[in-house]
Amino acid sequence: MSTVQLSNNEVARRPLGVLAALPQELGDLLAAMRAESGVRTVTLGQRDYHVGTVQGTPCVVTLARVGKVAAAATVSALIHVFDVEAVVFAGVAGGVGRDVHIGDIVVADMLLQHDLDASPLFPRFEVPLLGMARFGADETLSAQLAAACESFVAQEGGALSTRFSTQMPRVHRGLIVSGDQFVASAAAVQALRDALPDALAVEMEGAAIAQVCFEYGVPCAIVRTISDTADAHAPASFATFLVEIAGAYSTGVLTRFFQMRG
Ligand code: ADE
Repeated sequence: MSTVQLSNNEVARRPLGVLAALPQELGDLLAAMRAESGVRTVTLGQRDYHVGTVQGTPCVVTLARVGKVAAAATVSALIHVFDVEAVVFAGVAGGVGRDVHIGDIVVADMLLQHDLDASPLFPRFEVPLLGMARFGADETLSAQLAAACESFVAQEGGALSTRFSTQMPRVHRGLIVSGDQFVASAAAVQALRDALPDALAVEMEGAAIAQVCFEYGVPCAIVRTISDTADAHAPASFATFLVEIAGAYSTGVLTRFFQMRG
């Protein structure tokens, strides 16, 4: 695959890749980019990659769609075709940690594929031949993202919790696990807790992104708002949260993240 030709003002700095699985998870990001720089859209592999700037930062913004394969394919194109300097993923997740509630935010320190099991040939969760199960998020990028989340929660958390009848949101840092399943039963979420006691949240893309970024030496950070608690209520809670709330979180967090990066 060849590298896409960038215009003069796009070559000065390598862009940041920003992605989500679903449109609501990007909040107002594309609208902000359209208003600031205009957007040039490149379509590859049935995905649209939107090139422009956000608060002066060159960005390529795209939707991966759902699942680990979709995420890996998308981040691979961001790296190879758009030469991104780093990758940020924003979206929702199911809460797994006992103290992680709907409306809280989790910024990943580590990511792991909870459905990867080539045992007895390799230890459960380990990526065969890479010899790793856990992939670290970039410390600097994740710290910036966590600071943006703390600022968002401090300034807007009270209003959000009143409006959506959630608890006062909190920001957590730790392990996010990913798999090609929507986890939606008490038994399934308990099985995750038993196997991975430090898991805070479950979703369907983050660890695939972290693995590809690790393999190519590209920093990545993943932020997830808790839309459900991965139990029998998860489908309804996820659907409501995605449509009514997720966008406000992504807009609030990403706006502050870009302000902080300057
Ligand atoms: N994303 C949001 N909620 C989820 C869940 N319960 N399982 C997997 N991915 C999710």
